[in-house]
Amino acid sequence: MCGIVGYVGNKNAQDFLVSGLKRLEYRGYDSAGIVTLSDEGTATLIRAKGNISNLEEKLAQNKRNDKIGIGHTRWATHGEPSEINAHPHQAGKIFLVHNGIIENYKELKKTLNEHEFKSETDTEVLAALINSFYKDGQHPLTNAVVQALKLVKGTYGIAVVSELDPTEIVVARSGSPLIVGVGHDETLIASDASALVGHTKQAIYLNDGEVARLTKNSIEIKTLSAEPVSAKVEEIETNLAAIQKGGYDHFLLKEIMDQPESLTETLRGRIHAEDGTVRLGGPGLSETELRKIKHLIIVGCGTAYHAGLLAGYYIEKFTPEITIETVIASEYRYRQAYIPENSVALIVSQSGETADTLACLREIKKQGVKTIGIVNAIGSTIAREVDGGTYVHVGPEISVASTKAFTSQVVAMVMFGLTIAQAKGVRNSILRPYVSEIAKLPSEIAKVLESNRDLVQEIASQYKDFEHAIYLGRDTAYPTAMEGSLKLKEISYIDANAYAFGELKHGPLALIDDRFFEIAFLPDGELYEKAVSNVQEVLARGGKIVAITNVDKFDLDVENVVKIATELKIFAPILMNLISQLFAYYITVAKGLNVDQPRNLAKSVTVE
Ligand code: M6R
Repeated sequence: MCGIVGYVGNKNAQDFLVSGLKRLEYRGYDSAGIVTLSDEGTATLIRAKGNISNLEEKLAQNKRNDKIGIGHTRWATHGEPSEINAHPHQAGKIFLVHNGIIENYKELKKTLNEHEFKSETDTEVLAALINSFYKDGQHPLTNAVVQALKLVKGTYGIAVVSELDPTEIVVARSGSPLIVGVGHDETLIASDASALVGHTKQAIYLNDGEVARLTKNSIEIKTLSAEPVSAKVEEIETNLAAIQKGGYDHFLLKEIMDQPESLTETLRGRIHAEDGTVRLGGPGLSETELRKIKHLIIVGCGTAYHAGLLAGYYIEKFTPEITIETVIASEYRYRQAYIPENSVALIVSQSGETADTLACLREIKKQGVKTIGIVNAIGSTIAREVDGGTYVHVGPEISVASTKAFTSQVVAMVMFGLTIAQAKGVRNSILRPYVSEIAKLPSEIAKVLESNRDLVQEIASQYKDFEHAIYLGRDTAYPTAMEGSLKLKEISYIDANAYAFGELKHGPLALIDDRFFEIAFLPDGELYEKAVSNVQEVLARGGKIVAITNVDKFDLDVENVVKIATELKIFAPILMNLISQLFAYYITVAKGLNVDQPRNLAKSVTVE
């Protein structure tokens, strides 16, 4: 949510700030702003409502050659998207950009009578609070920031500059990521490594409770209680190609089409089709610990939650004596749930920064339960706080709608399940079909995407004017239906809901009429005939069905059918989900909507 950038060095700060904000735009895009300081300390503050291109237009009239500055792209929490609510916020001589939420901002505001508030934001309250300790430069900026942060309840990643010292940026974090890029005679900051790519490969990931004073050639990090911190410089792994569209019209299509390669990265060195085994290093559990596992809690939000549901359906099919509970992080963090002995928690998150998922991780750890991350973003907070983990390695996912991460999260969790099953002594003949299908998934994904893209585009155009959709499936096709409906609603704004086929006659069947169309997932298998009967029930009520199936002989008289030619049986629902992804993409393009940046959403939800 929101993006922060900052620069101090010898180059033009505006140039880095704008290019960095463009890279972070997927995190929040309802307003943006930058402030730069001249060598004498004169500030130029430019803000604009809407996306970064609006800010660029304004900057074109205000070109500066300042060598220090901070910038922000916003996803509104307090106060509507507007220029006045956009960051940076000013109080006295200081300027502040902030990600996160200051929960006690109302109480703090009451104590700040000297400041004339212009915006409705919690961030301006923090700026005024820092300024009240800074007293126009009578105290060092770092001290003022620390004093203020000690009074704050909530989450923050912040960057502060002052007109009184145009050589330093002060940054701090608690619950919202901040990365310091280490350059030659320059220091950069960003809330996401993608903004640093091409500028430096060396980065320091700040930890919660740390504050740093940055100049072009020094980085001093301390804790809020003034303990010095010796910084660990890490290598940024992302490259430029990974954060560009690579010839596609939208990041979403690129990320959908990337899946053969991104899943290959997830599997690299982990899947051994020749002997039907899986070897995962990351979780760091011994054979004895794996054997003892009796209960798996899988925690995530949105798509990560759906990935957990689907993986749970698979794992319980081949792992004996294990119960699996997949939970929504925002609910679970406040439940008084009993966690049985010998439980392990899988913490699933593409960004590794989702506030609710992170809060669950911390709650679960307090109970002494081992936590394993299924995370994409390397060095993210969740990745650093779990006891062990398996990175999914899909590379940056820029489009707000999550696609390639889903596929790899499901497979990574199934591989973890297989690791448990191996340790528990499940016969290789039972596990081998799973391993061998996983090994074939990348090439099957490539086939399915290539051979169905045009057909799905044509079908999608037929439904672009509908307002309602129902997604239906059973067994592993049910979480697949849930994920498909989320994808459609979040980018096309079509009201889409998912139901288990068996639930239809317990209520949702009443909905079927001309305003709805239905997407039915019909994988070959034990429950296929039952699902076909459910489809008949919908057809009998005038339903308009789009069937997605891998049954070659499928001959129901439905409006549209996508037949997936694949040798895979077990993981056919993963392939069907690709059709959902393409369908949501093409319908959104046909409606002329913003595919990569749907309204009201942001990529990484770092606030509760
Ligand atoms: O970064 P995370 O995987 O923790 O994000 C979880 C959800 O916010 C995310 O999957 C969201 O539902 C996507 N926009 C769905 O496409």
